[in-house]
Amino acid sequence: QPVQLWGGRFASGPAEAMAALSLSTHFDWRLAPYDIAGSRAHARVLRKAGLLTEDELSGMLAALDTLAEDVASGAFTPEIADEDVHTALERGLLERAGAELGGKLRAGRSRNDQVATLFRMYLRDAARRMIAGTLDVVEALVSQAERNADAILPGRTHLQHAQPVLLAHHLQAHAHALLRDVGRLRDWDARTAESPYGSGALAGSSLGLDPEAVAAELGFDTSVENSIDGTASRDFAAEFAFALAMLGVNLSRIAEEVIIWNTAEFGYVTLDDAWATGSSIMPQKKNPDVAELTRGKSGRLIGNLTGLLATLKAQPLAYNRDLQEDKEPVFDSVEQLDLLFPALAGMLGTLTFHTRRLAELAPAGFTLATDIAEWLVRQGVPFRVAHEAAGECVRVAEGRGAGLEDLTDDELAKIHPTLTPAVREVLTIEGSVASRDARGGTAPVRVTEQRERLVQRIGEL
Ligand code: ARG
Repeated sequence: QPVQLWGGRFASGPAEAMAALSLSTHFDWRLAPYDIAGSRAHARVLRKAGLLTEDELSGMLAALDTLAEDVASGAFTPEIADEDVHTALERGLLERAGAELGGKLRAGRSRNDQVATLFRMYLRDAARRMIAGTLDVVEALVSQAERNADAILPGRTHLQHAQPVLLAHHLQAHAHALLRDVGRLRDWDARTAESPYGSGALAGSSLGLDPEAVAAELGFDTSVENSIDGTASRDFAAEFAFALAMLGVNLSRIAEEVIIWNTAEFGYVTLDDAWATGSSIMPQKKNPDVAELTRGKSGRLIGNLTGLLATLKAQPLAYNRDLQEDKEPVFDSVEQLDLLFPALAGMLGTLTFHTRRLAELAPAGFTLATDIAEWLVRQGVPFRVAHEAAGECVRVAEGRGAGLEDLTDDELAKIHPTLTPAVREVLTIEGSVASRDARGGTAPVRVTEQRERLVQRIGEL
């Protein structure tokens, strides 16, 4: 016996194509446990308003409990005639509580305030999972930084050798970006902790129901101030999609580096066999698919955000059925990241860094030229002059195919009288790195302190 939530004023049922277009259970069934939680809270405020007797309330809650069990076990599933998750669960409730009692629960609520509430609940749980997954990736980065605490990396700008840095400093830079993504999700959660339940279709309820009580039972801080806003707004969904898209973009920057580092030309890293794939034709191949899928999925997360924003654009208040299109993109972003986090954390955590090669490559490209200029500044030479002199050092060294450290005492003195042999104290990678010792710099002491603060912050989250 199909259940419909709105048959009364219609002489006929919906056309088949109409029903097919309308159907949403294939994606909104994810909201079923939240819908039942909302129903429990709603039953209690109906009781408080005197619209259910004590016996009716216990009958209703018992029926909702069996329904929840049957949903969890898969014994109860939506049928093709159920328009959406709310309709399917109404049918389930009527089957368990009887039409008389079951038919009382819908008073004072609408699918519009329900769906807005349930979507928020689903996303707030998902946010906690996204934070945990992000922290797994951060921990993989930090543990690599710890294991390779002294390793040098040729630091780059424009992808060209720039200045030597600690590998740990670089890995921790990614960790900082990811912790901002975590912060964004937490800020989002605080804004999203308002329940629209009780807003009805748009105008609120005349039945003396208590939205604050429902909000508290469903884990919200409060209920929405404005029922029209409560049912019509989806900026919480768009903001969430943005937070995940930004996270995806940050992950893609890590992924891109792993892909580059893993090439024969760079040779910085080797992937663990468990986190790489082979080729069906080329027997020698070992491909960085985890990193490539991370990079690829970041595009998909951006698409989910922009698609949702386009759906929301210019919709008049309050609820429009367009809003049914809000859920799939956001569910998709969540589910792609659910798949991604453990794989990316596993791949990053098991990378082998070829630290000897990294150290050998670090001076290539005259990466210590800035150190010469800054050394001259410390001797009182104006930076403009120092920059010129250091540039000339590069020119002379390059001209005879040598490194900066190979310049003779005479060559140095000829370039600038202040360039004494003492300048060589900064012409080693270790000396260069150690000299950048202000807050945020790449000196080992600073990088270690920074890592300790990172570990502390992760512990506090
Ligand atoms: N399934 C709808 C959604 O996801 C909720 C139902 C509201 N339908 C309606 N005709 N007012 O937004």
